[in-house]
Amino acid sequence: VMKAVLFCAGMVLVCALRVKADVPVQKDFDINKIVGKWRLVAAASDSEWFKTKKETLKGATTVFTLNESGNLDVRANHQRPEGCVEMNRTYSTTEQPGRFTYTNPEYGSVNDIRVVDTNYDDYALMYFYTTKDIETFHKVKLYGRTLDLKPEIVDKFKQFCITQGFTQDTMFILPKNDSLMTNI
Ligand SMILES: *[C@@H]1O[C@H](CO)[C@@H](O)[C@H](O)[C@H]1NC(C)=O
Ligand SMILES: *[C@@H]1O[C@H](CO)[C@@H](O)[C@H](O)[C@H]1NC(C)=O
Ligand SMILES: *[C@@H]1O[C@H](CO)[C@@H](O)[C@H](O)[C@H]1NC(C)=O
Repeated sequence: VMKAVLFCAGMVLVCALRVKADVPVQKDFDINKIVGKWRLVAAASDSEWFKTKKETLKGATTVFTLNESGNLDVRANHQRPEGCVEMNRTYSTTEQPGRFTYTNPEYGSVNDIRVVDTNYDDYALMYFYTTKDIETFHKVKLYGRTLDLKPEIVDKFKQFCITQGFTQDTMFILPKNDSLMTNI
């Protein structure tokens, strides 16, 4: 009987871990190595805005810096048809290294942000889970230190998106054109 109980407890634990491991976080995440400038290489989102507007996104640059309180300050510049849109945000650290939260004061949305996979020197794959009232959105961003990422890395992005249930029409690879990038 004891053995059966232990077995069941083990199964529950395995199931709980599986749910938690659904969206992985970079092992031994080092916040000091993620700082600096990144180019947006690819993105996926299930928001209606993204589905209809993604093709108009020409380039985006993001700079991460370590905030004096240990959080991640995010300065992003997106090139959109209406011009450059600059955003400053702070991603707050959580108990789990590589996982952050951000509440958008303008829209009242709450974001659960994870660095899924990075080697710090070339690429960073990030996952965003946004809750606003009763709506939820998922977003994936592939950043590169340069726009020239190995095809394997872009495949990694596509594969991760498929695993998370994104369809082809919700994914977008940005044009590989440095002159379309904005500098900050
Ligand atoms: C640092 O992070 C805090 C939140 O933890 C934020 O209120 C503050 O504005 C940030 N500092 C800078 C320089 O952005
Ligand atoms: C973002 O922060 C930088 C300096 O940290 C500042 O120069 C810039 O004006 C800010 N942009 C916005 C849109 O707040
Ligand atoms: C890159 O973008 C610039 C500015 O729109 C354009 O003039 C140039 O032809 C583009 N280059 C390529 C290789 O698409």
